[in-house]
Amino acid sequence: MQPIISGKELHDLVYIVQAGGSLQGSIRVPGDKSISHRSIMLGSLADGTTTVEGFLEGEDSLATLQAFRDMGVVIEGPANGKVVINGVGITGLQPSSKPLYLGNSGTSMRLLAGLLAGQKFSSTLTGDSSLSKRPMKRVAEPLRTMGANISLKEGGVAPIEITPAELKPINYVMPVASAQVKSCLILASLYVNGASSITEPAPCRDHTERMLKGFGYPLEAESNVVRIQGGGRLKACHIDVPADISSAAFFMVGASICPGADLILKHVGINPTRIGVINILRQMGANLEFLREYEAGGEPVADIRVRYAPLHGINIPEDQVPLAIDEFPVLFIAAACATGETVLSGAEELRVKESDRIQAMADGLGVLGVTHQVKSDGIVIRGRGVDSLLGNGVVNSHGDHRIAMAFTIAALRANGPITILDCNNVATSFPGFVDRIRYGGMVLRESRQQP
Ligand code: S3P
Repeated sequence: MQPIISGKELHDLVYIVQAGGSLQGSIRVPGDKSISHRSIMLGSLADGTTTVEGFLEGEDSLATLQAFRDMGVVIEGPANGKVVINGVGITGLQPSSKPLYLGNSGTSMRLLAGLLAGQKFSSTLTGDSSLSKRPMKRVAEPLRTMGANISLKEGGVAPIEITPAELKPINYVMPVASAQVKSCLILASLYVNGASSITEPAPCRDHTERMLKGFGYPLEAESNVVRIQGGGRLKACHIDVPADISSAAFFMVGASICPGADLILKHVGINPTRIGVINILRQMGANLEFLREYEAGGEPVADIRVRYAPLHGINIPEDQVPLAIDEFPVLFIAAACATGETVLSGAEELRVKESDRIQAMADGLGVLGVTHQVKSDGIVIRGRGVDSLLGNGVVNSHGDHRIAMAFTIAALRANGPITILDCNNVATSFPGFVDRIRYGGMVLRESRQQP
């Protein structure tokens, strides 16, 4: 959760990143955020005790964990990534005595909206200032079609108020490729008498589907349609959470743009619905090698070796956009260091993430002297070329964890220090980021800015 002091969120953490440095050695980044959220949700609804290892102890997944504790689930840990969830069964959740506060986490809020729509009690979902600006109609509208009683604040944003309702099945064709919307509706469908189907316009992450199967819940997932019958039960299991490819992406780009870099990223999730960043970097000329591929907890995993390679600009294929949706901030840094132009289109969703990621990145790239052109659905970036450095200066992350980490990586190729404002939220997805950056060979100083 966003640290709160006297009701005010903190925006004071500044990173001052020295130019240059390197990335060497072997690093394991923390557990996958999407899978960590889902492990708590499904483990809580299961019959029996679910054990989780590799759980992300970041503020977003901890917000989900706290929400389930608030609804009466006894959860032990997390301790060194281990969590024990004493499942209460599909109808065992209890009403929370207070609103469920979900911090910065869109995944917690949208998935919980679906999971709570069919409960026999009322709930209120709230979040921090960023989450309270993000669009929630995309879940409220299809849930209302299912019969849910759900109300939003004016403008279609949180807080979300849910009161009990009898849900009916839905056959829904999603207008946007969103795993959060898909998962929200899958979770609501557990509480329906009958079969629902959810069709996605393009493949997006399928962790909910895979994990439900791991809990023994029958579900059909075929090309772009998920079919699910309500009224079943979940059987507790063990979940091994792979390292988050979205966090590993910062190091993939960092090693790719830094001459001499040679890095191994351990136990990274390489689910085909998440590997857009690898596909895009390889098209740009990156040297990414899978050293060992295996399976952990129903998800494909690999150790990945990344070595420096001169990158070139590309037209990013639009079918890769949902598969790399969280990795664009750092991919923009790859594009800025490449030779030639990189064009991104069909990525308007980036405007409604934790910040408007197209504009926030464009503003920072401007500070670093990178020529670019902002489009409503993407950006064109003129790379500085592999023999030129980026500029330096002060950039604002707007409280967006991935913007802060992307500009940290940019310092590897900058001609002077990069100061990044408003970095408190890095801990939402990547606790220990600064330690790993230093271990790899970069110099980063943290400072507290006076309000
Ligand atoms: C997520 C889905 C994506 C992603 C987010 C996590 C998930 O959001 O950006 O960080 O865990 O389902 P959208 O569904 O809005 O694309």
